[in-house]
Order: sequence, then structure tokens, then C-alpha cells
Amino acid sequence: MQAHAAKTSPFGETRFVEIVFPDLANHYGTLFGGNALSLMGKAAFVAATRRARRNVVMATSDKIEFHEPIRVGELIELIARVDRVGRSSMTVAVEMVRENLMSGQRQSVIRGTFEMVAVDADGRPAAIEPICHHTSEKTVS
Ligand SMILES: CC(C)(COP(=O)(O)OP(=O)(O)OC[C@H]1O[C@@H](n2cnc3c(N)ncnc32)[C@H](O)[C@@H]1OP(=O)(O)O)[C@@H](O)C(=O)NCCC(=O)NCCS
Repeated sequence: MQAHAAKTSPFGETRFVEIVFPDLANHYGTLFGGNALSLMGKAAFVAATRRARRNVVMATSDKIEFHEPIRVGELIELIARVDRVGRSSMTVAVEMVRENLMSGQRQSVIRGTFEMVAVDADGRPAAIEPICHHTSEKTVS
């Protein structure tokens, strides 16, 4: 069977879901903060790479706010959005929403921003191509 070409992935917003099984939790039975940061960094990485279509590295993570614990068995959805594009850097806002799979109740519980930098094959900062069509992102040169 032949694979069919899919539409190019959108760079506006990257979303993915994860279920909090015990291997992601601490001894309180809630998502371990270090694992939350890892998932958020991954979401920022994918959103920035989709925007730049280049290798990217993380330069900084800014204040991360943990508003509520997330329990084992809950679903988490990560939503990453490129808010600003500079010459080689991007500001990516990442939000984590928890969802109770039984009730469907959702709540935004963790937020943070990451500065991601596009790099060349030598790991040096590399220019990001401007985009042609309208998005909500700010372009700063
Ligand atoms: C990120 C990195 C490539 C920047 O290299 P550099 O030589 O300091 O880059 P420059 O000073 O020329 O800055 C390049 C861009 O990054 C931005 N930048 C660099 N350091 C930054 C910081 N600490 N915070 C925010 N932005 C930063 C600059 O503002 C600039 O943005 P612009 O091109 O949009 O104007 C380099 O520090 C690096 O490789 N760090 C390690 C990254 C890493 O290993 N991350 C973990 C694994 S992914």
C-alpha cells in the first residue's frame, strides 16, 4: 500500500497529549515537576523547529508557573505557540492543560516560555526565514 502525502504541518500551534502513568509521577502520586519541564521543553522544541525548519536549541526557559498538581491517570495536553520571531531566536509559550478522562473537565495548570535559537550545522545561530502569510506572531529584527 502506498503512503499518501499529508498537508504540511501547521507551525501556528503544536499540541500533543500524554497520559500521566506512575513512571511520570513522584511519591505523592502527581506529575513530577522535572518531567513536566521535560515535556514542555519538547513541545517548545517541536513548535520552534516547525517554525524555523532548522535545528533549534534551547537558550533559556523563563519563569514556569505550576498552579495545580496533576494526578496519576489524568491526561495532559501540551500547547506550544511561537509568539515572537527574531533574527535567529524565537519565544515559545507553552501551556499544559490537565483533563480528567472520566468527567472531561479541563484546566490550564502550568505555563512557561522558552527562548529557542535556530542553529546551523556548526551550532551557530542561523537566520530564520520570514513567513509570507498572516499569523499572530511578532517579528522582531
Ligand atoms: C543558544 C546559543 C546557540 C546562542 O549562541 P550565541 O553565540 O550566544 O548567540 P548570539 O549572542 O549571537 O545570539 C543569537 C540569538 O539568540 C538569542 N539569545 C542568545 N542567548 C540568549 C539568552 N540567554 N536568552 C535569550 N535569548 C538569547 C539572542 O538574542 C539572538 O537572538 P536574535 O538572533 O533573534 O537577535 C548558544 O548559547 C548555545 O549553543 N547554547 C547551548 C544550547 C543548548 O545546548 N541547549 C540545550 C540543548 S537543546
